Amino acid sequence: MKMRRTLLVLSSLTFGMMMAACKSCVDQHNPRPDQAKFKQEETFAKAERTLTPEGTIPAPVAVAEATGPAAPGQAKFEQFCSACHGLDGKANGPGAAGLNPKPRNFTDVAWQNKTDDARIYKVLKEGGASVGLSSSMAAWGGVLSDAEIYDLIKWVRHFKGK
Ligand code: HEC
Repeated sequence: MKMRRTLLVLSSLTFGMMMAACKSCVDQHNPRPDQAKFKQEETFAKAERTLTPEGTIPAPVAVAEATGPAAPGQAKFEQFCSACHGLDGKANGPGAAGLNPKPRNFTDVAWQNKTDDARIYKVLKEGGASVGLSSSMAAWGGVLSDAEIYDLIKWVRHFKGK
């Protein structure tokens, strides 16, 4: 009987000591903070890629960039502008068919180069007629905030040369 109790005390003591040691060792070597980095490196290592022209491995693309939210301006563009200017900016939206003059094709590099942001801002805010263009290009000042207009300008710009 006495023997049994001593055994019980001893084993629970040992167990307690093991648990304590285990906790302090996990604290010291906690793998969790490295997990995200490890995942990123793993994704990078497994990704298919072509070497740069210099023959080096291209830098890893930030995870957020690959799967992140849509660029600012894109959603509004698709909502309000793509019917005429096209989802790809090439002015081939269904609304463009009956228009004369045709909507601007934003992939046009020459147009992009000669147009400054101030003009695009004015067209968006006050409409095509405000700069002598077709009035089918409506004024959006009542619908879009300035911040939304600036985001749209960025999205219009990103089509250049695409
Ligand atoms: C109803 C069709 C239609 C919609 C919708 C439309 N546009 Fe246009 N847009 C036009 C037409 C047509 C022109 C060309 C006018 C011209 O060349 O006389 C034009 C021209 C433009 C230009 C060119 C100005 C320049 O300097 O040549 C910009 C920038 C533009 N639109 C941006 C937008 C944005 C951004 C939206 C969404 C908020 C939008 N448009 C919505 C028809 C449309």
